[in-house]
Amino acid sequence: MIKIALLGCGRIGQMHAANVIAHPGASLAMVFDSHTPSAQAIGNACSVPVATSADDVFASKEVDAVLIASATETHADYIEQAVAAEKPALCEKPIDLSLERVNKCAAAVSSSSVPVQLGFNRRFDPGHRAAREAMLAGEIGQLHQVIITSRDPELPPRSYLETAGGLLRDMTIHDFDLARFMLDDEPTEVFAVAGALIDPVLGAELNEVDTAMIILRTADGKQCHINNSRTAVYGYDQRIELLGTTGMLQSDNRKPHEVKRYTSNTTETSAPYQYFFIERYQEAFMAEISAFVDCIENGKTPEVGFEDGRRALILAEAAYLSIAENRLVSVAELMA
Ligand SMILES: NC(=O)c1ccc[n+]([C@@H]2O[C@H](COP(=O)([O-])OP(=O)(O)OC[C@H]3O[C@@H](n4cnc5c(N)ncnc54)[C@H](O)[C@@H]3O)[C@@H](O)[C@H]2O)c1
Repeated sequence: MIKIALLGCGRIGQMHAANVIAHPGASLAMVFDSHTPSAQAIGNACSVPVATSADDVFASKEVDAVLIASATETHADYIEQAVAAEKPALCEKPIDLSLERVNKCAAAVSSSSVPVQLGFNRRFDPGHRAAREAMLAGEIGQLHQVIITSRDPELPPRSYLETAGGLLRDMTIHDFDLARFMLDDEPTEVFAVAGALIDPVLGAELNEVDTAMIILRTADGKQCHINNSRTAVYGYDQRIELLGTTGMLQSDNRKPHEVKRYTSNTTETSAPYQYFFIERYQEAFMAEISAFVDCIENGKTPEVGFEDGRRALILAEAAYLSIAENRLVSVAELMA
């Protein structure tokens, strides 16, 4: 059993706590949150100790590894502390909102053999994964295009948007990672358009966008199109399409069940999509814990690691530059 400590007991921390407890190869050693009532809520509900500080977590012999699910601004510090304490870390996305800070953190990670896994859970979705494996097995011939549709069900509260770091660093970061995963290659060029179409007033006040389209191209010409919206009224829309020379693969949305209703005034009506990421990617979140446990038990390098987090942020910065200057941006411009 790998004894995992949870840092950050908010929305996603609560889900991770339940997944760690449910996992046959892991146990929840302790929890910590700078907002003590949040940690106590999980501690009481799950009968696990509540640490009094993060330092205590990293110093504890009862902790084999840490799961960092705290606010984004804490991730880089906690990754560095985990590496120094030789405790493998599974860290939520993004590593940080500043590429400079991520690059500084990279120095600590790369000089150590302590595994650092990034929380790009969508790579572990059974549908997305099966589509990629079929593509890599040659089922659609030579890959030409990847289309990623990624739309949230509703605009988050203003308080969330004020600190999230912007649509492309907070939300599209998952899609930049999926683009690299599905292309099985590095995008070298980025073009993006974005706007505050859902709430223009809020967008202007926060200098934030809520709707975006991004085009990526690899050195050998493969194309990827990402489209994002913070509000799709019909629900959380998560689809991937891979087009190749001999066919096409789709990884589709998930519904709670497959019942279709047929009446005198409607046909093929079905239940709404699973509400949001916790429901839609439930299996993926559990599978990322399995991958983390497997790394620790068997000395494997994480399948999705720190460099993947850094690369995704570089693509986000390239897209922001493209929006600001209304031009195609070479990723090399951001790699200095
Ligand atoms: N993989 C995904 O799909 C996904 C989904 C949602 C959120 N996230 C990421 O997970 C992280 C947390 O998001 P959330 O939605 O749970 O936010 P949240 O605000 O609900 O929870 C964050 C928690 O971190 C705590 N915290 C703040 N500073 C801390 C510190 N120094 N030490 C310990 N705890 C601290 C806060 O008190 C809060 O309880 C963010 O980085 C976010 O980007 C990932």
